[in-house]
Amino acid sequence: MPATIIIGAQWGDEGKGSTVDRLAATAHVVARFGGGDNAGHTINIGRDVFKLHLVPSGILRNNVTCVLGNGMVINPIRLIDEIDGLARFGVDVSPERIFISTRAHLITPAHRALDAAHEKSLGSGAIGTTLRGIGPAYNDKTGRRGIRAGMMADVELLAEVLQASIREANVTLQRYDMDALDPEKDTQEFIEAAARLRPYLRDTAHYLNQRLKDGAHVLCEGAQGALLDVDHGSYPYVTSSSTTTGGALTGLGFGPRYVGTVIGVAKAFSTRVGGGPMPTELEGLLAERLRGTGENFWDEFGTTTGRTRRCGWLDAVMLRYSAQINGLTEMVLTKLDILSGFEELKVAVAYEVDGRRYDNPPDTAALLERAVPVYETVPGWSEDVSAVRDYNALPVNAKAYVQRIADLCETPITMVSVGPERDQLIKL
Ligand code: GDP
Ligand code: IMO
Ligand code: MG
Repeated sequence: MPATIIIGAQWGDEGKGSTVDRLAATAHVVARFGGGDNAGHTINIGRDVFKLHLVPSGILRNNVTCVLGNGMVINPIRLIDEIDGLARFGVDVSPERIFISTRAHLITPAHRALDAAHEKSLGSGAIGTTLRGIGPAYNDKTGRRGIRAGMMADVELLAEVLQASIREANVTLQRYDMDALDPEKDTQEFIEAAARLRPYLRDTAHYLNQRLKDGAHVLCEGAQGALLDVDHGSYPYVTSSSTTTGGALTGLGFGPRYVGTVIGVAKAFSTRVGGGPMPTELEGLLAERLRGTGENFWDEFGTTTGRTRRCGWLDAVMLRYSAQINGLTEMVLTKLDILSGFEELKVAVAYEVDGRRYDNPPDTAALLERAVPVYETVPGWSEDVSAVRDYNALPVNAKAYVQRIADLCETPITMVSVGPERDQLIKL
Protein backbone atom coordinates (compact mmCIF):
# COMPACT_ATOMS: atom_id res chain seq x y z
CA MET A 1 0.00 0.00 0.00
CA PRO A 2 1.49 3.34 -0.95
CA ALA A 3 2.05 6.50 1.08
CA THR A 4 -0.74 8.96 1.78
CA ILE A 5 0.26 12.58 2.27
CA ILE A 6 -1.99 14.60 4.56
CA ILE A 7 -1.40 18.33 4.51
CA GLY A 8 -3.10 21.45 5.83
CA ALA A 9 -4.70 23.22 2.88
CA GLN A 10 -5.16 26.63 4.54
CA TRP A 11 -3.31 28.55 7.28
CA GLY A 12 -2.92 25.64 9.70
CA ASP A 13 -5.22 24.25 12.39
CA GLU A 14 -7.51 22.65 9.82
CA GLY A 15 -7.87 19.49 11.91
CA LYS A 16 -4.85 17.56 10.61
CA GLY A 17 -4.23 15.87 13.96
CA SER A 18 -7.74 14.48 14.30
CA THR A 19 -7.80 13.50 10.61
CA VAL A 20 -4.50 11.65 10.86
CA ASP A 21 -5.58 9.89 14.05
CA ARG A 22 -8.79 8.73 12.40
CA LEU A 23 -7.08 7.53 9.22
CA ALA A 24 -4.29 5.90 11.22
CA ALA A 25 -6.71 3.15 12.25
CA THR A 26 -5.56 1.28 9.14
CA ALA A 27 -1.98 2.61 8.85
CA HIS A 28 1.35 1.05 9.82
CA VAL A 29 3.44 4.19 10.08
CA VAL A 30 2.69 7.88 10.68
CA ALA A 31 5.56 10.21 9.80
CA ARG A 32 5.75 13.97 10.47
CA PHE A 33 7.74 15.68 7.74
CA GLY A 34 8.20 19.28 8.81
CA GLY A 35 7.93 22.03 11.37
CA GLY A 36 8.48 21.68 15.07
CA ASP A 37 6.56 22.50 18.21
CA ASN A 38 4.96 25.47 16.47
CA ALA A 39 2.41 22.83 15.49
CA GLY A 40 -0.44 21.90 17.80
CA HIS A 41 -2.43 18.87 16.72
CA THR A 42 -5.50 18.00 18.77
CA ILE A 43 -7.02 14.55 19.13
CA ASN A 44 -10.24 14.03 21.08
CA ILE A 45 -11.04 10.63 22.46
CA GLY A 46 -14.07 10.82 24.69
CA ARG A 47 -13.21 13.07 27.60
CA ASP A 48 -9.49 12.96 26.85
CA VAL A 49 -7.98 15.71 24.74
CA PHE A 50 -4.43 15.17 23.47
CA LYS A 51 -2.50 18.16 22.19
CA LEU A 52 0.51 16.96 20.25
CA HIS A 53 3.26 19.29 19.10
CA LEU A 54 6.06 17.02 17.93
CA VAL A 55 4.94 13.42 18.31
CA PRO A 56 3.03 12.24 15.19
CA SER A 57 -0.74 11.89 15.50
CA GLY A 58 -0.58 8.12 15.03
CA ILE A 59 0.72 7.63 18.57
CA LEU A 60 -2.73 6.79 19.98
CA ARG A 61 -3.06 3.81 17.62
CA ASN A 62 -1.20 0.87 19.17
CA ASN A 63 0.06 -0.72 15.98
CA VAL A 64 1.43 2.44 14.44
CA THR A 65 5.13 3.34 14.36
CA CYS A 66 5.72 7.09 14.63
CA VAL A 67 8.52 8.82 12.74
CA LEU A 68 9.86 12.33 13.33
CA GLY A 69 11.34 12.99 9.90
CA ASN A 70 14.50 14.76 8.77
CA GLY A 71 12.49 17.83 7.72
CA MET A 72 11.56 18.59 11.31
CA VAL A 73 13.19 20.91 13.82
CA ILE A 74 13.06 19.41 17.29
CA ASN A 75 13.42 20.95 20.72
CA PRO A 76 14.54 18.01 22.90
CA ILE A 77 13.09 19.56 26.06
CA ARG A 78 9.66 19.90 24.50
CA LEU A 79 9.79 16.41 23.01
CA ILE A 80 10.68 14.83 26.36
CA ASP A 81 7.81 16.76 27.98
CA GLU A 82 5.44 15.39 25.39
CA ILE A 83 6.72 11.83 25.64
CA ASP A 84 6.42 11.93 29.45
CA GLY A 85 2.92 13.37 29.22
CA LEU A 86 1.81 10.57 26.89
CA ALA A 87 3.46 7.95 29.14
CA ARG A 88 1.41 9.23 32.09
CA PHE A 89 -1.66 8.45 30.00
CA GLY A 90 -0.45 4.89 29.54
CA VAL A 91 0.58 5.41 25.90
CA ASP A 92 3.48 3.26 24.68
CA VAL A 93 6.25 5.77 23.97
CA SER A 94 9.12 3.31 23.80
CA PRO A 95 11.98 3.69 21.29
CA GLU A 96 10.54 0.64 19.53
CA ARG A 97 7.70 2.74 18.16
CA ILE A 98 8.99 6.33 18.01
CA PHE A 99 11.90 7.03 15.66
CA ILE A 100 13.70 10.37 15.40
CA SER A 101 15.63 11.06 12.22
CA THR A 102 19.34 11.57 12.89
CA ARG A 103 19.12 14.19 10.11
CA ALA A 104 16.43 16.33 11.77
CA HIS A 105 17.70 19.58 13.28
CA LEU A 106 17.60 20.65 16.90
CA ILE A 107 16.01 23.80 18.26
CA THR A 108 18.29 25.22 20.94
CA PRO A 109 17.61 27.77 23.69
CA ALA A 110 19.49 30.24 21.48
CA HIS A 111 16.98 29.73 18.65
CA ARG A 112 14.09 30.54 20.94
CA ALA A 113 15.77 33.68 22.23
CA LEU A 114 16.63 34.78 18.67
CA ASP A 115 13.04 34.22 17.53
CA ALA A 116 11.86 36.58 20.29
CA ALA A 117 14.59 39.08 19.42
CA HIS A 118 13.66 39.17 15.70
CA GLU A 119 9.98 39.53 16.46
CA LYS A 120 10.64 42.36 18.90
CA SER A 121 12.80 44.16 16.37
CA LEU A 122 10.00 44.03 13.78
CA GLY A 123 7.65 45.97 16.06
CA SER A 124 4.19 46.35 14.52
CA GLY A 125 5.40 44.47 11.43
CA ALA A 126 6.08 41.32 13.47
CA ILE A 127 5.19 38.01 11.85
CA GLY A 128 3.44 36.81 14.96
CA THR A 129 5.49 33.62 15.21
CA THR A 130 4.87 31.03 17.88
CA LEU A 131 8.23 32.04 19.46
CA ARG A 132 9.34 28.42 19.42
CA GLY A 133 12.63 29.17 17.62
CA ILE A 134 11.46 27.76 14.29
CA GLY A 135 12.83 30.46 11.98
CA PRO A 136 16.30 30.63 13.59
CA ALA A 137 16.60 26.82 13.61
CA TYR A 138 15.81 26.52 9.88
CA ASN A 139 18.12 29.50 9.30
CA ASP A 140 20.99 27.58 10.85
CA LYS A 141 20.03 24.45 8.91
CA THR A 142 20.17 26.13 5.50
CA GLY A 143 23.14 28.22 6.64
CA ARG A 144 24.94 24.90 7.27
CA ARG A 145 25.72 25.61 10.90
CA GLY A 146 22.79 23.78 12.49
CA ILE A 147 22.96 20.98 15.05
CA ARG A 148 21.49 17.71 13.82
CA ALA A 149 19.55 15.31 16.02
CA GLY A 150 22.17 12.64 15.37
CA MET A 151 24.51 14.56 17.61
CA MET A 152 22.38 13.51 20.59
CA ALA A 153 24.25 10.21 20.36
CA ASP A 154 27.30 11.96 21.81
CA VAL A 155 26.11 14.38 24.49
CA GLU A 156 29.60 15.52 25.42
CA LEU A 157 30.27 16.70 21.90
CA LEU A 158 26.72 18.07 21.72
CA ALA A 159 27.32 20.15 24.87
CA GLU A 160 30.49 21.62 23.36
CA VAL A 161 28.84 22.51 20.05
CA LEU A 162 25.76 23.86 21.80
CA GLN A 163 27.75 26.09 24.12
CA ALA A 164 29.72 27.48 21.19
CA SER A 165 26.48 28.24 19.34
CA ILE A 166 25.09 29.98 22.43
CA ARG A 167 28.17 32.18 22.69
CA GLU A 168 27.74 33.15 19.05
CA ALA A 169 24.03 33.84 19.48
CA ASN A 170 24.79 36.05 22.48
CA VAL A 171 26.54 38.53 20.21
CA THR A 172 23.34 38.89 18.17
CA LEU A 173 21.12 38.94 21.26
CA GLN A 174 23.09 41.80 22.73
CA ARG A 175 22.82 43.71 19.48
CA TYR A 176 19.04 43.35 19.85
CA ASP A 177 19.24 44.53 23.46
CA MET A 178 18.16 41.14 24.75
CA ASP A 179 19.57 39.25 27.75
CA ALA A 180 22.48 36.96 26.92
CA LEU A 181 22.17 33.24 27.71
CA ASP A 182 24.45 31.41 30.10
CA PRO A 183 26.30 28.77 28.02
CA GLU A 184 26.47 26.43 31.04
CA LYS A 185 23.26 26.97 32.99
CA ASP A 186 20.93 27.52 30.07
CA THR A 187 21.97 24.32 28.31
CA GLN A 188 21.70 21.84 31.18
CA GLU A 189 18.06 20.83 30.73
CA PHE A 190 18.60 20.58 26.97
CA ILE A 191 21.54 18.20 27.39
CA GLU A 192 19.61 16.06 29.88
CA ALA A 193 16.68 15.79 27.48
CA ALA A 194 18.99 15.02 24.56
CA ALA A 195 20.64 12.20 26.51
CA ARG A 196 17.23 10.62 27.05
CA LEU A 197 16.37 10.83 23.35
CA ARG A 198 19.42 8.93 22.16
CA PRO A 199 17.69 5.52 21.94
CA TYR A 200 15.08 6.98 19.60
CA LEU A 201 17.57 7.98 16.88
CA ARG A 202 17.36 6.23 13.50
CA ASP A 203 18.08 6.58 9.83
CA THR A 204 14.37 7.14 9.21
CA ALA A 205 14.64 7.66 5.44
CA HIS A 206 16.12 4.19 5.14
CA TYR A 207 13.47 2.78 7.46
CA LEU A 208 10.60 4.39 5.52
CA ASN A 209 11.90 3.22 2.14
CA GLN A 210 12.18 -0.29 3.49
CA ARG A 211 8.64 -0.24 4.88
CA LEU A 212 7.21 1.26 1.69
CA LYS A 213 9.01 -1.34 -0.40
CA ASP A 214 7.43 -4.03 1.79
CA GLY A 215 3.98 -2.57 1.17
CA ALA A 216 3.36 -0.82 4.49
CA HIS A 217 0.77 1.95 4.58
CA VAL A 218 2.54 5.17 5.56
CA LEU A 219 0.66 8.35 6.45
CA CYS A 220 2.77 11.48 6.03
CA GLU A 221 1.51 14.08 8.48
CA GLY A 222 1.96 17.71 7.54
CA ALA A 223 2.21 20.58 9.97
CA GLN A 224 1.08 24.19 9.52
CA GLY A 225 -0.70 24.77 6.21
CA ALA A 226 0.04 25.34 2.54
CA LEU A 227 -0.64 29.06 2.86
CA LEU A 228 2.16 29.30 5.45
CA ASP A 229 4.67 27.57 3.14
CA VAL A 230 7.99 29.41 2.92
CA ASP A 231 7.79 29.43 -0.91
CA HIS A 232 4.10 29.43 -1.66
CA GLY A 233 2.62 31.33 1.30
CA SER A 234 2.18 35.07 1.80
CA TYR A 235 5.89 35.71 2.33
CA PRO A 236 7.23 36.93 4.76
CA TYR A 237 4.13 36.09 6.83
CA VAL A 238 4.87 32.39 6.63
CA THR A 239 6.67 29.72 8.60
CA SER A 240 10.20 28.68 7.64
CA SER A 241 9.56 25.23 6.19
CA SER A 242 8.00 23.57 3.15
CA THR A 243 4.53 22.69 4.35
CA THR A 244 3.33 21.53 0.95
CA THR A 245 3.45 18.12 -0.78
CA GLY A 246 7.05 18.55 -1.93
CA GLY A 247 8.05 19.02 1.70
CA ALA A 248 6.74 15.55 2.51
CA LEU A 249 9.19 13.95 0.11
CA THR A 250 12.26 15.97 1.10
CA GLY A 251 11.22 15.94 4.75
CA LEU A 252 11.04 12.16 4.87
CA GLY A 253 13.40 11.04 2.14
CA PHE A 254 11.45 8.93 -0.34
CA GLY A 255 10.39 9.47 -3.90
CA PRO A 256 7.08 10.18 -5.67
CA ARG A 257 6.80 6.57 -6.90
CA TYR A 258 5.35 5.64 -3.50
CA VAL A 259 2.79 8.43 -3.26
CA GLY A 260 -0.75 7.19 -3.74
CA THR A 261 -2.99 9.91 -2.39
CA VAL A 262 -2.55 13.54 -1.39
CA ILE A 263 -5.27 14.63 1.02
CA GLY A 264 -5.75 18.31 1.81
CA VAL A 265 -7.41 19.02 5.12
CA ALA A 266 -9.54 22.15 4.91
CA LYS A 267 -11.80 23.78 7.44
CA ALA A 268 -15.32 24.67 6.27
CA PHE A 269 -14.38 28.32 6.93
CA SER A 270 -11.06 30.16 7.31
CA THR A 271 -8.84 30.78 10.32
CA ARG A 272 -5.37 32.23 10.72
CA VAL A 273 -3.14 32.87 13.75
CA GLY A 274 -0.50 35.58 13.71
CA GLY A 275 0.08 38.37 11.20
CA GLY A 276 -0.29 38.53 7.43
CA PRO A 277 -3.08 38.99 4.92
CA MET A 278 -6.37 37.13 5.24
CA PRO A 279 -8.82 38.49 2.65
CA THR A 280 -12.02 36.96 4.05
CA GLU A 281 -11.34 37.87 7.70
CA LEU A 282 -14.44 38.88 9.64
CA GLU A 283 -14.81 40.92 12.78
CA GLY A 284 -17.50 41.23 15.39
CA LEU A 285 -20.41 38.86 15.81
CA LEU A 286 -19.86 36.76 12.69
CA ALA A 287 -16.24 36.09 13.64
CA GLU A 288 -17.32 35.19 17.19
CA ARG A 289 -19.91 32.85 15.79
CA LEU A 290 -17.30 31.04 13.63
CA ARG A 291 -15.02 30.78 16.62
CA GLY A 292 -17.66 28.43 18.00
CA THR A 293 -19.99 28.41 20.94
CA GLY A 294 -20.51 26.32 24.05
CA GLU A 295 -18.26 23.29 24.08
CA ASN A 296 -16.52 24.42 20.90
CA PHE A 297 -15.80 27.86 22.28
CA TRP A 298 -12.12 27.22 23.01
CA ASP A 299 -11.39 25.50 19.70
CA GLU A 300 -10.35 28.60 17.84
CA PHE A 301 -7.73 29.57 20.35
CA GLY A 302 -4.30 28.45 19.17
CA THR A 303 -3.35 24.97 20.40
CA THR A 304 0.27 26.06 20.79
CA THR A 305 0.15 29.67 21.91
CA GLY A 306 -3.40 30.17 23.18
CA ARG A 307 -3.84 33.16 20.86
CA THR A 308 -7.28 33.83 19.38
CA ARG A 309 -7.54 32.60 15.82
CA ARG A 310 -8.70 35.12 13.23
CA CYS A 311 -11.85 33.77 11.58
CA GLY A 312 -13.55 34.40 8.24
CA TRP A 313 -15.58 32.93 5.39
CA LEU A 314 -14.19 30.10 3.35
CA ASP A 315 -11.75 31.42 0.76
CA ALA A 316 -12.07 29.26 -2.35
CA VAL A 317 -9.48 31.36 -4.19
CA MET A 318 -6.88 30.30 -1.65
CA LEU A 319 -8.16 26.74 -1.40
CA ARG A 320 -8.10 26.25 -5.18
CA TYR A 321 -4.52 27.59 -5.22
CA SER A 322 -3.66 25.20 -2.41
CA ALA A 323 -5.17 22.25 -4.32
CA GLN A 324 -3.02 23.26 -7.28
CA ILE A 325 0.37 23.68 -5.59
CA ASN A 326 -0.10 20.49 -3.58
CA GLY A 327 -1.53 18.36 -6.36
CA LEU A 328 -4.36 17.36 -4.04
CA THR A 329 -6.14 14.23 -5.13
CA GLU A 330 -8.88 14.78 -2.53
CA MET A 331 -9.94 16.95 0.39
CA VAL A 332 -11.40 16.48 3.86
CA LEU A 333 -13.70 19.27 4.98
CA THR A 334 -13.69 19.70 8.77
CA LYS A 335 -15.86 21.60 11.24
CA LEU A 336 -18.96 21.50 9.07
CA ASP A 337 -20.91 21.36 12.35
CA ILE A 338 -19.80 24.89 13.24
CA LEU A 339 -21.67 26.30 10.22
CA SER A 340 -25.08 25.05 11.43
CA GLY A 341 -27.43 27.91 12.18
CA PHE A 342 -26.20 30.45 9.63
CA GLU A 343 -29.02 31.68 7.42
CA GLU A 344 -26.58 32.14 4.59
CA LEU A 345 -22.89 31.52 4.02
CA LYS A 346 -20.39 33.33 1.87
CA VAL A 347 -17.55 31.88 -0.14
CA ALA A 348 -14.84 33.99 -1.78
CA VAL A 349 -14.61 33.02 -5.46
CA ALA A 350 -12.27 35.80 -6.68
CA TYR A 351 -10.58 38.98 -5.46
CA GLU A 352 -10.49 42.54 -6.62
CA VAL A 353 -7.22 44.36 -6.09
CA ASP A 354 -6.89 47.98 -7.16
CA GLY A 355 -9.81 47.57 -9.54
CA ARG A 356 -8.46 44.40 -11.18
CA ARG A 357 -10.04 40.96 -10.81
CA TYR A 358 -7.88 38.05 -9.63
CA ASP A 359 -9.01 34.45 -9.94
CA ASN A 360 -5.74 33.29 -8.37
CA PRO A 361 -4.08 34.84 -5.33
CA PRO A 362 -1.66 37.65 -6.21
CA ASP A 363 1.94 36.74 -5.42
CA THR A 364 2.86 39.40 -2.88
CA ALA A 365 1.61 39.95 0.63
CA ALA A 366 1.20 43.66 -0.15
CA LEU A 367 -1.26 42.99 -2.99
CA LEU A 368 -3.03 40.33 -0.97
CA GLU A 369 -3.43 42.80 1.89
CA ARG A 370 -5.51 44.98 -0.45
CA ALA A 371 -7.56 42.10 -1.89
CA VAL A 372 -11.30 42.56 -1.59
CA PRO A 373 -13.13 39.24 -1.86
CA VAL A 374 -15.79 38.71 -4.50
CA TYR A 375 -18.34 36.62 -2.65
CA GLU A 376 -20.86 34.05 -3.70
CA THR A 377 -23.70 33.69 -1.21
CA VAL A 378 -25.24 30.29 -0.60
CA PRO A 379 -28.09 29.24 1.70
CA GLY A 380 -27.17 27.84 5.12
CA TRP A 381 -28.86 25.17 7.24
CA SER A 382 -30.30 25.22 10.74
CA GLU A 383 -30.00 21.57 11.77
CA ASP A 384 -27.28 20.38 14.15
CA VAL A 385 -25.25 17.95 12.05
CA SER A 386 -22.90 16.64 14.72
CA ALA A 387 -24.86 13.39 15.16
CA VAL A 388 -25.01 12.65 11.42
CA ARG A 389 -22.94 9.62 10.36
CA ASP A 390 -24.23 9.11 6.82
CA TYR A 391 -23.49 11.74 4.19
CA ASN A 392 -26.95 11.39 2.66
CA ALA A 393 -28.53 12.36 5.97
CA LEU A 394 -26.91 15.81 5.94
CA PRO A 395 -29.21 18.76 5.20
CA VAL A 396 -29.55 19.43 1.46
CA ASN A 397 -27.91 22.85 1.80
CA ALA A 398 -24.94 21.38 3.68
CA LYS A 399 -24.37 18.88 0.88
CA ALA A 400 -24.73 21.65 -1.69
CA TYR A 401 -22.12 23.72 0.22
CA VAL A 402 -19.68 20.79 0.24
CA GLN A 403 -20.23 20.14 -3.47
CA ARG A 404 -19.82 23.83 -4.35
CA ILE A 405 -16.44 23.96 -2.59
CA ALA A 406 -15.30 20.79 -4.37
CA ASP A 407 -16.36 22.30 -7.72
CA LEU A 408 -14.66 25.63 -7.04
CA CYS A 409 -11.44 23.85 -6.08
CA GLU A 410 -11.71 21.25 -8.85
CA THR A 411 -10.94 18.61 -6.23
CA PRO A 412 -13.26 15.94 -4.83
CA ILE A 413 -14.19 16.17 -1.16
CA THR A 414 -14.17 12.57 0.03
CA MET A 415 -14.73 13.06 3.75
CA VAL A 416 -16.46 15.61 5.95
CA SER A 417 -16.02 16.02 9.67
CA VAL A 418 -18.91 17.04 11.90
CA GLY A 419 -17.10 17.06 15.23
CA PRO A 420 -13.69 16.25 16.70
CA GLU A 421 -14.43 12.70 17.86
CA ARG A 422 -13.16 9.66 16.00
CA ASP A 423 -16.61 8.60 14.79
CA GLN A 424 -17.51 12.07 13.52
CA LEU A 425 -15.65 11.68 10.23
CA ILE A 426 -18.08 10.81 7.44
CA LYS A 427 -16.85 9.19 4.25
CA LEU A 428 -18.74 10.21 1.12
P1 GDP B 1 -4.39 20.90 13.41
O1 GDP B 1 -3.28 21.80 13.80
O2 GDP B 1 -4.65 20.94 11.94
O3 GDP B 1 -4.20 19.49 13.89
O4 GDP B 1 -5.71 21.47 14.11
P2 GDP B 1 -5.86 21.93 15.65
O5 GDP B 1 -5.87 20.74 16.51
O6 GDP B 1 -4.87 23.00 15.96
O7 GDP B 1 -7.26 22.64 15.59
C1 GDP B 1 -8.41 22.00 15.15
C2 GDP B 1 -9.47 22.04 16.28
O8 GDP B 1 -10.70 21.66 15.76
C3 GDP B 1 -9.17 21.08 17.40
O9 GDP B 1 -9.63 21.65 18.61
C4 GDP B 1 -9.99 19.84 17.02
O10 GDP B 1 -10.36 19.06 18.14
C5 GDP B 1 -11.18 20.49 16.41
N1 GDP B 1 -11.87 19.74 15.35
C6 GDP B 1 -11.36 18.94 14.38
N2 GDP B 1 -12.34 18.52 13.53
C7 GDP B 1 -13.49 19.08 13.98
C8 GDP B 1 -14.84 19.07 13.52
O11 GDP B 1 -15.19 18.48 12.51
N3 GDP B 1 -15.74 19.80 14.26
C9 GDP B 1 -15.38 20.49 15.37
N4 GDP B 1 -16.32 21.19 16.02
N5 GDP B 1 -14.12 20.53 15.82
C10 GDP B 1 -13.18 19.85 15.13
P1 IMO C 1 -0.47 23.49 13.02
O1 IMO C 1 0.41 22.34 12.61
C1 IMO C 1 -1.38 27.72 12.71
C2 IMO C 1 1.99 30.45 12.13
C3 IMO C 1 2.29 31.40 13.28
C4 IMO C 1 2.86 32.57 12.50
C5 IMO C 1 3.65 31.90 11.37
C6 IMO C 1 5.13 31.75 11.65
O2 IMO C 1 -1.04 23.35 14.38
O3 IMO C 1 -1.50 23.75 11.97
P2 IMO C 1 6.53 30.16 13.25
O4 IMO C 1 6.50 29.99 14.75
O5 IMO C 1 6.26 28.91 12.50
O6 IMO C 1 7.79 30.83 12.79
O7 IMO C 1 5.34 31.18 12.95
O8 IMO C 1 3.07 30.61 11.23
N1 IMO C 1 1.94 29.02 12.52
C7 IMO C 1 0.81 28.32 12.65
N2 IMO C 1 -0.48 28.69 12.55
N3 IMO C 1 -1.09 26.43 12.93
C8 IMO C 1 0.19 26.03 13.01
O9 IMO C 1 0.54 24.73 13.11
C9 IMO C 1 1.21 27.00 12.90
N4 IMO C 1 2.57 26.95 12.95
C10 IMO C 1 2.99 28.19 12.70
O10 IMO C 1 1.14 31.73 13.98
O11 IMO C 1 1.83 33.30 11.90
MG1 MG D 1 -2.92 23.32 15.21
